[in-house]
Amino acid sequence: MSEEVIKFKVTIDGHTTEVAPGTTILEAARQIGGGSVPPAMCFYSKLEKSGGRCRTCLVEVSKGSEKDPRPMPKLVASCRTTVMDGMEVKNLTSERTQEARKAVTEFLLVNHPLDCPICDQAGECHLQDLGYMHGNEITRTEFERRTYEPEDIGPYIKLNMNRCILCARCVLAANQLTEKREHGILFRGDHAEISTYLNKALDNDFIGNVIDVCPVGALTDRTSRFASRVWFTKPLDVTCKCDKCSGKAVLWMKGDEVIRVTARKDKYGEVEEFICNDCRFHKKDLKYWNIEGPRHISRHSVISANHYEKTTDAYEKIEYEGAKEISLKDELNAEEQ
Ligand code: SF4
Ligand code: FES
Repeated sequence: MSEEVIKFKVTIDGHTTEVAPGTTILEAARQIGGGSVPPAMCFYSKLEKSGGRCRTCLVEVSKGSEKDPRPMPKLVASCRTTVMDGMEVKNLTSERTQEARKAVTEFLLVNHPLDCPICDQAGECHLQDLGYMHGNEITRTEFERRTYEPEDIGPYIKLNMNRCILCARCVLAANQLTEKREHGILFRGDHAEISTYLNKALDNDFIGNVIDVCPVGALTDRTSRFASRVWFTKPLDVTCKCDKCSGKAVLWMKGDEVIRVTARKDKYGEVEEFICNDCRFHKKDLKYWNIEGPRHISRHSVISANHYEKTTDAYEKIEYEGAKEISLKDELNAEEQ
């Protein structure tokens, strides 16, 4: 006799889906897709215990569940809140959520320098995208920003602590992918910083993945720093035979030159399969790779604007004034391309 599979119904911005108990609101929203998906600066589905640090994924729960329909009084972090049967959630359709996201963006930018013109992450930076969507034109803070000197943490990775938003993804990635982690978050509160233990170098086989999981330009690839703006490069899906990882990567080409090698990322900017340091840092030549074809950028971001076909993540029309404005703009942009 087959066991009955229990599913919870959840409605986000008017779209209903069914998910397994224990699913978070964010994962349910990703199942629906489009503009209902809250941004996530610290959650990373491939890393255990991620999320709950940045608050960009706040949403309004307007109905708790079928059994207890009372709304939740405060906005909740969608990456850490599991769905209940009959729950109703507002993301794009909630003015409170949009206001809160604006405030969180302002908070994340309090110490973050506006050095996008010289930052290697520009074009792929999640904070840059968040700033475009929700940022203020001017800062209201009168305090001096925290500043640190850029640091080489190992032969391949540059730490620019000024840009770090303390999402802890790199620490979790190092913990979960490498044999021994040699860096972490030191100190507390506004003194908190990413650092290596006694200036140890990060040189484990899979440590290069901290560059890919970093949502901002705090950890960058020393072997390709300042080589090119990312929108001037052409990404190619490639594979190679590798005994350490799947060998599935993306080559970022400038003419015939391989500028950098990264893992493949999905439309939420998350790595599909982590790659080893050999593939990332030591195979910067086409002779090592089999080319599958051009990489299609499916994430809605600066890099996809004016460059590629309409992204699969284009905003859907939703009955909310702000949302309509966003989707209209998006459509116009797509038509111009
Ligand atoms: S260095 Fe990057 S990944 Fe690590 S905590 Fe800072 S922002 Fe997050
Ligand atoms: S993504 Fe949910 S708190 Fe950061």
